[in-house]
Amino acid sequence: MEDRIIPAHVAIIMDGNGRWAKKRGLPRKMGHVEGCKVVEQTVEDAARLGIRYLTVYAFSTENWKRSGDEVDALMQLFRYYAKRLLKIANENNVRVKMIGERSRFAPDIIDKIHALEKTTEKNTGMTFVIAVNYGSRDEICRGVRRMLADSRDGILEPECVTQETISSYLDTAGLPDPDLLIRTSGEERLSNFLLWQLAYSELYFSDVLWPDFKKEELVKAIEVYNKRERRFGNAK
Ligand code: IPE
Ligand code: IPE
Ligand code: MG
Repeated sequence: MEDRIIPAHVAIIMDGNGRWAKKRGLPRKMGHVEGCKVVEQTVEDAARLGIRYLTVYAFSTENWKRSGDEVDALMQLFRYYAKRLLKIANENNVRVKMIGERSRFAPDIIDKIHALEKTTEKNTGMTFVIAVNYGSRDEICRGVRRMLADSRDGILEPECVTQETISSYLDTAGLPDPDLLIRTSGEERLSNFLLWQLAYSELYFSDVLWPDFKKEELVKAIEVYNKRERRFGNAK
């Protein structure tokens, strides 16, 4: 498909790591290890396809409820991959940005997040957004708190609040809304991901488990996206 339109912003709910491991008789952690490799590959694939923004849901505000062992394993993986990602991002001219509430992480992880953002901020290619300790309702709560504080301090007039104002108080301020949302593993729900931002995104659900997600799957999702007629609520 030579003349296909590449969506500017693709968001992905990477789901199915646990089931991938279970199918192989492996601990859940191994599914996450494999899933991380697929994230690295997807960053390169997306950048080469010309996607301008790629957002992935890596850890939700609800994921803290998983077993201590699994949460620890995910934190360790995050430490390891933050270092690798720095290299991959710079090699591919990718700018990295994190959304979510980072203060809950260990200090060394917060430093790594900061370093990733700082070291890649001048890259001019794709923006890779990672949602960690992210939940849409939490993001909206934090944004509303800041709006109320600004209103109290006289920086924001209630009658001036528009949809753009609200967007500017969210973690995704400055990023365009996703054009296409992909969720893997056959689940068809949003799980508290980008509720405001996905208002008019095309939704694509794939049965493939995240560790099996390959470039062909991404291309397939883009092809389905191309066949859809987008309406944005105000079209005929
Ligand atoms: C997604 O895979 C990764 C994270 C939520 C961190 P899951 O761990 O949710 O895998 P399943 O849904 O149990 O298969
Ligand atoms: C959503 O997947 C969160 C991430 C992919 C990080 P989950 O597997 O945690 O979602 P639920 O619990 O099935 O809704
Ligand atoms: Mg899951």
